[in-house]
Amino acid sequence: MVDLTTSWLGLSLRSPLVVAASPLSKDASAIAEAVAGGAGAVVMRSLFEEQLVHEQMGLHRFLDARADMDAEARSYAPGPHAFSADAEPYLAELARLKKRVDVPVLASLNGTTPGGWTSYAKRLEDAGADALELNLYEVGSAPDETGAEVEERQLTVVRGVVAAVAIPVSVKITPFYASVTAFVRALERAGARGVVVFNRFYQPDIALDTLDVDRHLVLSTSAELPLRLHALARLSPVTGLSLACTGGVHSGLDAAKAILSGAHAVELASVLLERGPGHCAVLRDELAGWLREKGYASSAEARGVLDLRSAPDPRAWERLDYAQMLDGWRPSRSGKRRP
Ligand SMILES: Cc1cc2nc3c(=O)[nH]c(=O)nc-3n(C[C@H](O)[C@H](O)[C@H](O)COP(=O)(O)O)c2cc1C
Repeated sequence: MVDLTTSWLGLSLRSPLVVAASPLSKDASAIAEAVAGGAGAVVMRSLFEEQLVHEQMGLHRFLDARADMDAEARSYAPGPHAFSADAEPYLAELARLKKRVDVPVLASLNGTTPGGWTSYAKRLEDAGADALELNLYEVGSAPDETGAEVEERQLTVVRGVVAAVAIPVSVKITPFYASVTAFVRALERAGARGVVVFNRFYQPDIALDTLDVDRHLVLSTSAELPLRLHALARLSPVTGLSLACTGGVHSGLDAAKAILSGAHAVELASVLLERGPGHCAVLRDELAGWLREKGYASSAEARGVLDLRSAPDPRAWERLDYAQMLDGWRPSRSGKRRP
């Protein structure tokens, strides 16, 4: 029997497979099914900064208006809870999940500017979240804001959230930093306990027939995994943070690749949305089967075996062989691509 347990963010998980943030967390039965299929933890869908700021503005407007009322009018006015439209259902969802499953449940906050909305981190901790995932998702910043300024702003958010809670904070990032490793090390200094690589961008397309922006959401494929493997392999030797892979894991073999590259945990969204939460069991069995076949007694033993420090030929992760590889590329006579 292969031991799949892993330590992630200081939490002990029975398996490295984690349900990634998605609308699945709204359905406690679906989450229970994923956990029965071997998921070791669950990340809830995100609460977004703009929702929380909106909620706070609603509350402030309410308090200002209430201060102007006389006592009788105040007794008829709705209480502050009437304005907690966004956070309250989320807290209820967290409570439902905590009651339903016996694995760690992470709440997720999504935002990139310092502000009062980060105080919700404490509410999530008080409501029982075992850890927080902070998603630093932003599509574009102000045209003149430099990369260094964007990073400093984001680090300020991380410091604010870390200062607000005692539970571990993991940060979900995009691949679009000039130096992912330097930014991850800065996250570590800011107090984060883990990093999740990489968020997938919302990528609207162009609809040529309607001459419009096509905004439908496309699920991932395994083709998105190598970008993550490369980052994990480079991060694993240079950070003490817990590493999670998200993006393009569609099979147990994909999960094995992420673990070999250095991941402590592997987050799954598209595959569970496509095939159903019970499909987690297929990935778990495939992962365990592969580890057994290769002679690993545990997933921990396989972790990082192919990272930049430990791979038999670390140059394969680097640029060194790149020119040689390009030089060796030959188009086939049929015109089809051939490596
Ligand atoms: C429908 C959908 C909703 C998502 N919602 C969130 C979210 O609320 N917060 C978040 O951090 N990530 C969200 N994600 C991103 C996933 O958590 C995951 O990181 C990403 O889809 C890559 O993993 P995958 O290739 O397994 O889908 C969402 C993804 C999908 C497909």
